[in-house]
Amino acid sequence: MNSQDFEFVAQLLRKRAGIVLTGDKMYLLESRLAPLARKEGLPSIDDLIHVVRSRREERLIAQVVDVMTTNETYFFRDKTPFLNLREAIFPQLAQARRGSRIRIWCAACSTGQEAYSIAMMLDQDTSLTGGVPVEIVGTDISDRCLERARQGLFTQFEVQRGLPIQMLMHYFTQQDDHWRISERMRQMVTFKKQNLIDAQYGLGQFDIVFCRNVLTYFDGPTKGDVLGRIAGTMNSGGFLILGATETTSGISQAFEPAQDRRGLYKLAERSVQAA
Ligand SMILES: C[S@@+](CC[C@H](N)C(=O)[O-])C[C@H]1O[C@@H](n2cnc3c(N)ncnc32)[C@H](O)[C@@H]1O
Repeated sequence: MNSQDFEFVAQLLRKRAGIVLTGDKMYLLESRLAPLARKEGLPSIDDLIHVVRSRREERLIAQVVDVMTTNETYFFRDKTPFLNLREAIFPQLAQARRGSRIRIWCAACSTGQEAYSIAMMLDQDTSLTGGVPVEIVGTDISDRCLERARQGLFTQFEVQRGLPIQMLMHYFTQQDDHWRISERMRQMVTFKKQNLIDAQYGLGQFDIVFCRNVLTYFDGPTKGDVLGRIAGTMNSGGFLILGATETTSGISQAFEPAQDRRGLYKLAERSVQAA
């Protein structure tokens, strides 16, 4: 692939998804686009890019962006966020939202493992929210991931990552060489398409937002914009959970780190007043 083609795809990704693709990612681009070229019946990646550049077909552009997203995820990823939910977040919100409901948003949910981890956790211990009903919304930019998330169908490899065997036995049934999560768990989560760089989200207000391992693909100003819009979707007293290597520090003043809780942030009261 020549540097002009690389630059074309890099700009497409930045414009459509906010994802920054640096020059050292040529291998990534080639390994992801090769299967798409084959699927489209095109002899090479060069031909694929030529077709995208010349025809500007929305369907194909969307697929290029989709295959270039990194969708790594697994059940109960990093454990700490789930510990924070159990020990710090739910006890507070169970009080604060009594008589109402708790809304949780898994932004950039990939194939759904994070959202389903929360659903299983809540189902296993119904006392966690003191009877306050919970709604879980998972969103992603990738139609391919959302389709898999809605199906709740996982490979043997995926259910072996992070999921305790007792939960696998309790919540999943085997279907050929895959495992399907129960209808009851699927009913607890709604999956929708949402591009985080869109100017507006239209998902309603949330009490808890998981936004893990996606900001890392954006440049500084985009991270700030996204965090600002996320803050705008949050109720007063809301919590934000970032990935293990991510922070709001130096990027957004809308959040304050929770004391002694890695990766956990509270919506700053001044941003509620400003909203
Ligand atoms: C590495 S996965 C993280 C999944 C999950 N949050 C976790 O931590 O396990 C990153 C996800 O971000 C999604 N993504 C990338 N750019 C996005 C954007 N602009 N809007 C919404 N989702 C995006 C990708 O499709 C991918 O599924």
